[in-house]
Formats: sequence, structure tokens, C-alpha cells
Amino acid sequence: MSVATVQEAVENGILASVPADYIILEQDRARGNHGDDSSSTELPVIDLAGVKDDGKRRRAVVESIRQACLDWGFFQLVNHGVPVSLMKRMQQVAWEFFDLPLEEKQRYSVKTESQSLGTQGYGSKFKSKEGAASNWGDQLRHRTLPVSIRQYELWPTNPPAYRETEEEYVEELDRLTRLLFELLSEGLGLHPMYLSDFFHERDQQQMVVNYYPPCPQPELTMGIQKHSDFGLVTVLWQDSTSGLQISKDGNWIPVKPIQDAFVINIGDQMEILTNGKYQSVEHRGLVNRLKPRMSIANFTSPLDNVLIAPIPDLVGEFQIPRYNETTFGTYRSSFFDKGCAGKEHLKAIK
Ligand code: SIN
Ligand code: FE2
Repeated sequence: MSVATVQEAVENGILASVPADYIILEQDRARGNHGDDSSSTELPVIDLAGVKDDGKRRRAVVESIRQACLDWGFFQLVNHGVPVSLMKRMQQVAWEFFDLPLEEKQRYSVKTESQSLGTQGYGSKFKSKEGAASNWGDQLRHRTLPVSIRQYELWPTNPPAYRETEEEYVEELDRLTRLLFELLSEGLGLHPMYLSDFFHERDQQQMVVNYYPPCPQPELTMGIQKHSDFGLVTVLWQDSTSGLQISKDGNWIPVKPIQDAFVINIGDQMEILTNGKYQSVEHRGLVNRLKPRMSIANFTSPLDNVLIAPIPDLVGEFQIPRYNETTFGTYRSSFFDKGCAGKEHLKAIK
């Protein structure tokens, strides 16, 4: 059966079971209850209040971020400075967009079904590679910063407030990412401006709104299959419906939704820059039988021509760089050629 988008198929009630296209290999399926957060292990929650003007607080926060990066590659962030009212407005226009009739949403359709960074617009059935299962989710993707890379014809004009809200939102998330660059630099023993200076006018941001419809057989599929993020740092908002899980010591740990928080994770480029000190971590998104789930991810990555290699000061006196120098563009192509299958692609340049 061919369906335009997962959301449409579910809303028209034509799916009593998961079509073959979406069924993942047995070994990749989640065990246990879908949407069950009852795990005793919990991701660190870091409170950014006071980091800008209280030196003592800042040192403590830098240390907890450093520890979270070493232990988890992921953490949650509260009091992050992004106005909650703006977050709510962004979520509102995103829900309103996905509530539009299919034909209206398809005015912003992606041209290809590839997952690559260049892909923009509204789409579904993104496959990690030919022959792989499709994800149980639809997306609206845009390259957002610098402003010059925007393709505004793929930014909805319905709901009417969509564009200006996304414009405001991505600026705030960029500010937050720059602050994280400072706190990460400090935790690595570098000058606070090291990462910000290194990437000054040499990075880009992409935003992806994920809409995961309810699923008749959530145990057979995934909203997003396991992967690491290929860029530098990801800032993710997730709604109150559980689904995100991260890999830790051979287990899958749920990331419990916290109202108005962001989930931050280290991407592959940060792993290379830190010579593997901070590792990017595999994660995946489950779906459930009852409720749609939404997340909004903002990814900051180098521009394609930027050379990425371990930062000399982080290689250490007697150690050797564990990753070869590569441009981000080359890395990205190999990431997508390999079908973003977990972290396989990173081994290639080790
Ligand atoms: C992602 O990993 O890009 C999305 C995760 C989520 O929807 O929670
Ligand atoms: Fe991700």
C-alpha cells in the first residue's frame, strides 16, 4: 500500500497494521512497554540560571556539563534563557501546520526523500538507505542559519505566524548554542571563546519539526531509528509524550520529558574535535499506540568546507589524533552513504 504521509494514513483510518515498509529488523525493535519511562537511570538535568553573571555558579555548571558529556553525551537543560512564551508559540504553529489538510502541507514538499542536510521542506518516509525501513514519522525541515541559506518558499505561510515565529525561535536557539560552545570550551580547558571563534561565520543551523502519529503496532517500527547526530551540538525540544531513548552501557535509557526543558547532545563533529573525549551517542525515537508526539530539533554543524580534526590541545602530549582530518562536507557524504546506521560511519576515519 502506498501512503502519502504516515499522518494522513493514520488519520484516514486506513492502517490497522504497520505496512511492510515501516517494519524494522527484529534485533532493532524496542523491548518492553512503549512510552514507559520507569527507568531508575536518569539523564543529568543542568540548570543554567546565573551562568552569565555568577562566576561560582558558572564553574559549577561547566563542571556538570563536562561530567554529563563524559558520562552520557546527553543532558537536559532548564533555565536556558530561551523565553518559554516563544517556545510555546513555536510549538503552536508547528502543531497548526501538521493539522492542515495534506494538500496544503504538500505545497512545501521536499523534492527528494533523502535524509541529507540539503533536504528541506515537508516530507515523510525518509529512509536511512535503500532497502532500510522507513521511519514512522513526518517532518518539516529547514536550513535556518545563516539567513543566506534559507529557502523561504519551503517555509509555511499557513498558519500565518509560522515564518516569523521560526525566524525568532532559531535566533534564540543560536544564542543558546553559542553559550553552550562557551561552557563546553571551558570544560575542555580551552579559552571560553575557542569554539565560538573557530566556528565564527563557519557554521550553519538546520531545524527539523518531527511529527510522529500514533501507531497501531508500535513494537514493530520506530519514529526515528538509532543514529548519532552528525553535526556539532543538537538542541531538542520534545513534548510531554515519551519516546526518546539513548544508548548507555548497552541499554536504552528513556529521556523523560521535562516541561520547557531542552535536551542537548554532542554530535560526531564534537567527538572528532575532542579526539574522542566527548562521544556522540546513539539515540532513537519510539512511537506509541495512543498519542501523536512532536519534537523540534535544531542542529548546528560546520559549513561544508570547514576542516575538522582533533583540537591540538586536546590530543595530549603522548597521544595521537584518533581521527583523520576531513572536511565536514566529505564527512557528511560518507555519513549518508553509509545510511546513518548507528555510529558505523565514525569508525571509517578512526
Ligand atoms: C532526533 O533524534 O533527531 C529526534 C529525536 C526525537 O524526536 O526525540
Ligand atoms: Fe538525533
